[in-house]
Amino acid sequence: MGRLPASSSLHARSSNSSKLKVHFQMRVSPSLSTPALVAGYMAADISSRPDHQRIGPFMVGLSSHTAHPAYNYAVPIPDAAPTRAEIGDLLALFARHHRTPRLEYVSGSAEQAEAALLTAGFTLDQRLPMLACRPGAAIPLPTPMGITISTVSEPRDLFDALSVQNDAYGEAEPVSVQDVQRLQSLIGRGGYVALARDAITHRPCGTGLVTEPIAGVAEVAAVGTLTSHRGRGIASALCSRLAKAAHHVGATTVFLDVEGPAEEAVYLRAGFTRAGERTWISRR
Ligand SMILES: CC(C)(COP(=O)(O)OP(=O)(O)OC[C@H]1O[C@@H](n2cnc3c(N)ncnc32)[C@H](O)[C@@H]1OP(=O)(O)O)[C@@H](O)C(=O)NCCC(=O)NCCS
Repeated sequence: MGRLPASSSLHARSSNSSKLKVHFQMRVSPSLSTPALVAGYMAADISSRPDHQRIGPFMVGLSSHTAHPAYNYAVPIPDAAPTRAEIGDLLALFARHHRTPRLEYVSGSAEQAEAALLTAGFTLDQRLPMLACRPGAAIPLPTPMGITISTVSEPRDLFDALSVQNDAYGEAEPVSVQDVQRLQSLIGRGGYVALARDAITHRPCGTGLVTEPIAGVAEVAAVGTLTSHRGRGIASALCSRLAKAAHHVGATTVFLDVEGPAEEAVYLRAGFTRAGERTWISRR
């Protein structure tokens, strides 16, 4: 997701990509649509978290470090048909961890689960447009004048990227050691973090990341530009770079979701096109 929270993208996992233990296996076929591929990716991604649990047809990831919704949610496996008892077990798990029950999924990929969850008192939080970019479709955009853009891995740069991200998204929490470690873990598995800096002052001003591909699917997330530097083409250049980097390491589908038309324009400019929608629901 181009937006933050970067729900499925910033979780620490226990191993690097070659050893990644994915407990939900994606079935990949060239004929699968982008929404179907992303639905499989979401279940596989959350199932690779060391802290994940499976409750009936739900893969659940709950963080012991933070109650932030981005790190505490469940994903129904595609075409899930949960029983009332399984939904009860899901609610009990969130309650035991003092977390708000919340799910994310590709719209249309879990219709029976959605109906059952709504009956059980969940309400719709958002439906967000999803965009995707296939190899060859990323539009090479020039780095804006007076800006440098690079992929980074040093803790200091990752701290700067996270600071820009928090500032851009209005997150009040300071950057923590765990945040930096999550990005190091992401890079260790084959993902990328991009950072834009002012070429003169070296002040960080824009950032974004892309996850390592799982069965050819990768997600762009946490794209943000400081207010002072917006409207110069930084985010669109970052997205184009991130999509290309993911394609280079084997992604055939790079996707993200967007908050609204203004943000969508940034990604359309970078070569992404509409490819479906994602749903967030919760029970408060
Ligand atoms: C959304 C966001 C990342 C865009 O960042 P940005 O660096 O300003 O994005 P860009 O500069 O690439 O594009 C934004 C606008 O600037 C314009 N622009 C791009 N290059 C330009 C240039 N050289 N000169 C003037 N304007 C330019 C673009 O045309 C675009 O305008 P449009 O959408 O009306 O066509 C930024 O507003 C942000 O951080 N928002 C908060 C976090 C967020 O919502 N992230 C994305 C969630 S989906």
